[in-house]
Amino acid sequence: MLVVEDLYKSFGNIQAVEDVSFEVKKGEVFGLLGPNGAGKSTTISMISTLFPPTKGNIIFEGYNILDNPKKIRNKLGVVPQDIALYPTLSGYENLSFWGNVYGLKGAELKKRINEIADIVGLNGRIKDKVDKYSGGMKRRINIGAALLHKPDLLIMDEPTVGIDPQSRNHILDTVLELNKQGMTIIYTSHYMEEVEYLCSRVCIMDEGKIIASGTQHELVELINGKTQINIKTDKIDESLEECLKNISGVYAIKTMDDIISLYGENVDILLAEIIDKVTKYGRRIESIDVKKPNLESVFLHLTGKALRD
Ligand SMILES: Nc1ncnc2c1ncn2[C@@H]1O[C@H](COP(=O)(O)OP(=O)(O)OP(=O)(O)O)[C@@H](O)[C@H]1O
Ligand SMILES: [Mg+2]
Repeated sequence: MLVVEDLYKSFGNIQAVEDVSFEVKKGEVFGLLGPNGAGKSTTISMISTLFPPTKGNIIFEGYNILDNPKKIRNKLGVVPQDIALYPTLSGYENLSFWGNVYGLKGAELKKRINEIADIVGLNGRIKDKVDKYSGGMKRRINIGAALLHKPDLLIMDEPTVGIDPQSRNHILDTVLELNKQGMTIIYTSHYMEEVEYLCSRVCIMDEGKIIASGTQHELVELINGKTQINIKTDKIDESLEECLKNISGVYAIKTMDDIISLYGENVDILLAEIIDKVTKYGRRIESIDVKKPNLESVFLHLTGKALRD
């Protein structure tokens, strides 16, 4: 559906986006995951035709959008990172304004606004002024504005930043529901959990570049898919470490403060072995914590830093 090829964008001497390429397939929720300043907003602003790239191509359904950006705008729905609403107008009036921009009028517009209010869960509050809305409600009406013209591709830039958990869950479920009804979605976030919950395929960005991409499974495979098991015992010494290291299936071991971390596969079997060894060794286990590999571990592995500083 969308092919992004060798995209570059510089602002003066800041290289915001560098050699970014990816493909979004029809019907998927595609994730762009990266920390602050990674270049996510710059990338999707170019796809949204807000400004052209310094270099590169963006092909939407076979059409190079740079040739005539206006031509494809009504196929795209864009939810910007910064909320774009008139605070003194009601939710209804805001949607009405955006509906007019997309050429909707009269009974058709009214019907569509009611549908949107339903989709974003603001039915009871749609006539209230936007400045009386909570942060989460503003985000939801912002999403609604991008849906009015039934776009084929919905582009969402960090739509859950700074809102309450209830609105956040509502937004995540709305994304899944829209996707179920056939909408293709690009979802940008620095929350690993959201991308994990929503996206079939993911591009991880850092400092303007794509550092890894693929399905979640493929990304986790990049770090060999090892699970981390952290054990806290009453006392740790080198011989206990040595003894755990020799368990078959333990791939690596490291000790930090009073916790031994083991990396391995087949966690169920490993856990039983570990507990057996530690107790036979005469130590008391205070806690065991199992961490399955996730996108956060992939990011940490590739960049040496956490997604959120
Ligand atoms: N209009 C601009 N002028 C100058 N520099 C910019 C501009 N827009 C973005 N940048 C710079 O480009 C880089 C990438 O920014 P971008 O907003 O794309 O990151 P992001 O991944 O969306 O981050 P965040 O999670 O904070 O929204 C940053 O270094 C940023 O300061
Ligand atoms: Mg951004």
